[in-house]
Amino acid sequence: MEQITIETNVQVFQPEELSPLDKTLVLAAQAAARKAYAPYSDFRVGAAVRLKDGRIVTGNNQENAAYPSGLCAERVALFYAGGQYPDVPVEAIAITACHDGKQAAYISPCGACRQVMLETQKRSGNPVKVYLCTPQKIYLFSTINALLPFSFEEIPDK
Ligand code: THU
Repeated sequence: MEQITIETNVQVFQPEELSPLDKTLVLAAQAAARKAYAPYSDFRVGAAVRLKDGRIVTGNNQENAAYPSGLCAERVALFYAGGQYPDVPVEAIAITACHDGKQAAYISPCGACRQVMLETQKRSGNPVKVYLCTPQKIYLFSTINALLPFSFEEIPDK
């Protein structure tokens, strides 16, 4: 028997420690969260994607009375970015949420969004940074792989 230990490195910032560029991205995610369509959960998620050319694309969760038909904020933003700017690599994504009019104390992307982020990163050809934003702290993962270790991949037989 062999054991494998997988370590994840996360940098934790105070909001005032962010660079102006990253601060702008976080503010864009917060603004997107406020515009979410989340009448069922009242958990409004916002995602802001920064592309290599500096452009910021945002998305928010879009719910539906037929629950599974809704979509998470991260995928709304990433699919829009991929659809509109297919050849511009993604550099970073900031995610935040609000509930009851207050910024949520915790946010982390679901498994399906992580899988989509991984594909975005592959497409982009460079590591995509992920900022998870809460009122007091911003958690920075320098690559999607840190959020999705041991990820699915089709490796055909040699
Ligand atoms: N949600 C997101 O937008 N992103 C995630 O990564 C997880 C969950 C949304 C889906 C649903 O509209 C609401 O949060 C409550 O689950």
